[in-house]
Amino acid sequence: MQVREAPINPNHWYGVALASQLRDLPLGVELWQQPIVVFRDGDGKVHALEDRCPHRFVKLSRGKVIKDQLECAYHGWCIDRGGKCTHIPYLESDQALPTKAIRTYPVLEEDGFIWVFPGDANLASKTDRFPLPEWHDLNYICSVTEFTVGCHFSFLIENLMDMYHGHLHDNLQAWAEPKLRTIGGDENQVTATYNAQSYYRVDRIWSVSQLFFPALRQLHPEVLQVSYNYPHWRASLGDDFRICCLFAPIDRSHTRAFLLHFTSLERFTNLHKLPHWFRLGIKNMFHNSAKYLLDNLVKQDVLMLKDEQDAYDRCPKTPLEINRTLIAVQKLIETQAKRG
Ligand code: FES
Ligand SMILES: [Fe+2]
Repeated sequence: MQVREAPINPNHWYGVALASQLRDLPLGVELWQQPIVVFRDGDGKVHALEDRCPHRFVKLSRGKVIKDQLECAYHGWCIDRGGKCTHIPYLESDQALPTKAIRTYPVLEEDGFIWVFPGDANLASKTDRFPLPEWHDLNYICSVTEFTVGCHFSFLIENLMDMYHGHLHDNLQAWAEPKLRTIGGDENQVTATYNAQSYYRVDRIWSVSQLFFPALRQLHPEVLQVSYNYPHWRASLGDDFRICCLFAPIDRSHTRAFLLHFTSLERFTNLHKLPHWFRLGIKNMFHNSAKYLLDNLVKQDVLMLKDEQDAYDRCPKTPLEINRTLIAVQKLIETQAKRG
């Protein structure tokens, strides 16, 4: 199988939206060619259905949530949480409601995200979700950016696992001079460890400013670890810096993703003695403080990734790759595609 044509393995949990993005209105997302609508019922509990009205197949996400049901925008048919039609405003007394339900999806609201399981629903409860413990941890400041890139998801994960493209990011990247130390993995993940140089150490207030002012940066050796925990990605640089990418591939040549950046406050031990409400206030106040940085990094990568997809579409060949990590990533994508 050509890796650029590989489908996702749907038997995983995919983060499709930030929990804060889902309020009173239904939200439509597309996950590997499956239109899905997520919505909250009257108690705030999240549900996920096929985003296709059983009447004339328009998107239910264009409608409204009425009590615990979705009301289609077109003719006002109501669909309940189980996907069944419960009401047609103009149904005549001698007509029956349609009995066939539309598809429902297992869905979770955890760690700040809405997660959908697009594969075999029987496997959902047996499948671990990608953990994001930093989201609620008071010792981590989170920043998040969402983006869509015009390429197959393999190009994006290869970009994230490729520590040798710092050339592109120049001053925006937190590490330099990576040297591959180890690479390992199994049929679910690939992990690579590098020795690198980093300026990223958050132990004094002034040290945070290195993030924003290149002239203040002081390099020190640090271990850089990157993992493709299929279908998502995680990296850590020393103890103070973590970054993750949640994949929500749309189709063969479009990938939606959330990039999350976590700065640790572990080293500020005095902070840990302060009351919970105060620490939460700090966490919330600095939420998204690195968003500008993330957005700019993403902009640079997105251009390269679109070029790669366009070149592939013109001439569908996988270019010569010498990076051993990326060769392992391609194998993992193919293995997972076969398992899906
Ligand atoms: S298309 Fe949805 S109610 Fe008619
Ligand atoms: Fe990059």
